Amino acid sequence: MSDVLIAFGTRYGATGDTAAAIVAVLKKKYKLVSDIWDLKDYRSCPDLSDYKYVIIGSGIKYGKWTENTEKYLENDFTGKKVAVYISSSYAGETETYDYAKKNFLENVIAKHSNVNPIATEAFGGRIPLTQIPKIWTLRILQRIPTFQKDNRDLEKIEKWAERVGKLFTEEN
Ligand SMILES: Cc1cc2nc3c(=O)[nH]c(=O)nc-3n(C[C@H](O)[C@H](O)[C@H](O)COP(=O)(O)O)c2cc1C
Repeated sequence: MSDVLIAFGTRYGATGDTAAAIVAVLKKKYKLVSDIWDLKDYRSCPDLSDYKYVIIGSGIKYGKWTENTEKYLENDFTGKKVAVYISSSYAGETETYDYAKKNFLENVIAKHSNVNPIATEAFGGRIPLTQIPKIWTLRILQRIPTFQKDNRDLEKIEKWAERVGKLFTEEN
């Protein structure tokens, strides 16, 4: 049986890629076996009671989580160690990181008193080429001359996964 469930919601794939990177670290460093679940298939999601550790991730579009991922936060996580992350282009830029972490991550978690994560992080994102015209409607990014359409940081993701693995496996 697996140790960790990573349940994520994505529109363009970045959040799933991040889940895969996290799984690799948990396995290599802590021998933790993970199941990855894309919440677009919400109904068949594995039963939470089978896992001690849960990681929830969502992509951000116009400031919002995917609908199913936000719904997933309503589950009962009693007795489990939970970690939460987002993939957000604002979070990948120094100028807008704090804004993204507060508005897209902390404020969302705060709405769910049943979710008390041991770790949270806001990672950068990737905007597909076909979506570039749409993203320019987000004025805040136009003001950052160095803005990258792929501002994910694999090293940051792997370091966070290491920390999460440590917090999951340490006795307390
Ligand atoms: C139409 C559109 C709207 C977006 N809105 C936001 C936003 O409000 N805030 C943000 O940080 N990133 C925004 N992004 C960037 C996404 O967060 C980024 O593409 C991320 O990787 C999405 O995760 P996903 O690939 O898992 O869906 C937007 C991207 C698109 C294409």
